Amino acid sequence: MANPLKKRYTVTTALPYANGPVHIGHLAGVYVPADIFVRYLRATGREVFFLGGSDEHGVPITIKARKEHTTPQAIVDRYHAIIKKSFEELGISFDIYSRTSNPTHHATAAEFFTKLYNEGKLIEKTTKQYYDEEAKQFLADRYIIGTCPHCNNEKAYGDQCEACGTSLNATDLINPRSTLSGNVPVMKETKHWYLPLNEYEGWLKEWILKGHKDDWKTNVYGQCKSWIEQGLQPRAVTRDLDWGVKVPLKEAEGKVLYVWFDAPIGYISATKEWCEANHDSNWEKWWKDEETELVHFIGKDNIVFHCIIFPCMLKAEGSYILPENVPANEFLNLEGDKISTSRNWAIWLHEYLEEFKGKQDVLRYMLTSIAPETKDSDFTWADFQAKNNNELLAIFGNFVNRTVVLTQKYYGGIVPEMGKLTDYEKEVLEKIKEFPALIGGSIEKYRFREAQAELMNLARLGNKYLTDTEPWKKQKEDPEAVKTILHVSLQICACLSVLCEPFLPFTAAKLQRMLNINIHDWNEGGRTDLLKAGDKINAPEYLFEKIEDEVIAAQLKKLEDIKKANQMANAAVEPAKEDISYDDFQTMDLRVCTVLAAEKVAKTKKLLKLKVDTGVDVREVVSGIAEYYEPESLVGKQVLMLINLKAKEIKGTLSHGMVLMAENANGELSLLQPQKEVKPGSSVR
Ligand code: 2FM
Ligand code: ZN
Repeated sequence: MANPLKKRYTVTTALPYANGPVHIGHLAGVYVPADIFVRYLRATGREVFFLGGSDEHGVPITIKARKEHTTPQAIVDRYHAIIKKSFEELGISFDIYSRTSNPTHHATAAEFFTKLYNEGKLIEKTTKQYYDEEAKQFLADRYIIGTCPHCNNEKAYGDQCEACGTSLNATDLINPRSTLSGNVPVMKETKHWYLPLNEYEGWLKEWILKGHKDDWKTNVYGQCKSWIEQGLQPRAVTRDLDWGVKVPLKEAEGKVLYVWFDAPIGYISATKEWCEANHDSNWEKWWKDEETELVHFIGKDNIVFHCIIFPCMLKAEGSYILPENVPANEFLNLEGDKISTSRNWAIWLHEYLEEFKGKQDVLRYMLTSIAPETKDSDFTWADFQAKNNNELLAIFGNFVNRTVVLTQKYYGGIVPEMGKLTDYEKEVLEKIKEFPALIGGSIEKYRFREAQAELMNLARLGNKYLTDTEPWKKQKEDPEAVKTILHVSLQICACLSVLCEPFLPFTAAKLQRMLNINIHDWNEGGRTDLLKAGDKINAPEYLFEKIEDEVIAAQLKKLEDIKKANQMANAAVEPAKEDISYDDFQTMDLRVCTVLAAEKVAKTKKLLKLKVDTGVDVREVVSGIAEYYEPESLVGKQVLMLINLKAKEIKGTLSHGMVLMAENANGELSLLQPQKEVKPGSSVR
């Protein structure tokens, strides 16, 4: 099934900013589909180079460092290590996971710039740019926010509006503000180098609008089309910053390459780095040979950079191949809400791996089954549990387990002979042969959801076959038929072990160990003689285990807590009320009272009826604290009360006074109590 046109593939994944760990949105959008694609390509005999790495420059990193009172280097060192380790543990099979702080990268990016500069491919312009007088700094990219001229989002950045995806220049922003000081910036002259994207418009129209109309995904093609049709402007590729790749020109003191200029060159640097480390002098075959297919896996916010800006850079440089495809995904939400690093609304990969040990494939399976391939999609924990329990465990795991257990029980683990086949069995064996082409065809079209669904259909076929033929009922009266059933079932297990490898690599390894086979070639997955009669298989192991309700409840609680923390952090404090006189204050009779009895008010959720000793009298008061206190826990406690509030009937009780409490930003109520026990009736002043 190898692509006859191309010999080899260079597959890149967006370099995540090393200013935080990676989350399920990154995984579903980029890394899991890329890994499936690459594992499949390798298994079909294609030569592949698969790379990733940390994007260690750019303003998000310097902003984070400033916030944490540390250096950008300390930030990137911390997150690069976390990200790299978590990708490895999830089985993302990079040939290299590099980083853009690497000296090879600095040299490669600087050389790339120099070549464009020397060949007159860049324009030099002195313009006025925003400058923060208090911070004494030009305001590049994320150091400036304002209103997006396209969608009116008030928090658009100087380089991009995250709400509508438009790539911006800082001067496009309406009402610009410095994120350093909050001040309105002033304009100050500075010199920069620009890539004249406008000069590439004609070429882009040919290459993308005509050349990739049918093979690029519609979301990707649509964004490119609208970009090109809006008209392209020259784009600055340098910045006034001190963190990044230094601009290799004498006159550019204090300037670095724009992060979106250096980061994609990071793909090239990573290739060079791997080749150097592996004593392979031919890194260029991955980047400069027409026989190589370049594929970029990215999220939708990176489309313009990978489909327009980077290709224009490559075209300007002149010696590189261009991407054949840029299979960008849309976004993944979490429990109905946009994933957000700043709001901590995410499932972080390193935490998942810690909390769900040995369940890497469950996450991979879940994320592929809901991958936002054509539109945004939603991760819910309930769905995660259902996909594990009802699909992986109940179908795939159950089928394999029944087959292996029965083979051990009836034949001591020796694969039985296949005897006379029924029509049903002939049909099943024919069907099995179709799966490699079905699954492979979908993968080659970047339809990973569909491909994985087909894989599960093969498991379903096996599970149904076993359930229909009921070997456990026939062993006594028809042992020959049972041999055939288990032989056929074992062949299906073997096919599954091959075909599931791109999606579920840990499961594939376990299953192949259990079946005592070692098959890497994808095309083997359609064969019905992968195991021979007489082969010995190993003892059964569980492929998947049930995920209990408590585990899911704990994850939901974690999210609930994050939501509460966010509400608190964002809640505005009420403005102060008008001043009152001391006499006004004196009119309020505030006392310490002791609770004598407490009970719920029938048919209400929030109300408790309290009997209190006010020191003056014993009376009843209704208070809205039932959601936060058990009635019994209050008896004997002292509370503060306004005792001269007019009595009022509430749900059949004459409530006289008001119990005082603090209301948290999230609406939670907390009673106020004296620090030491005092006599009931003591005044509060
Ligand atoms: O959007 C991002 O997270 C960028 N760091 C992606 C860079 S991709 C490539 F160009 F390096
Ligand atoms: Zn916008």
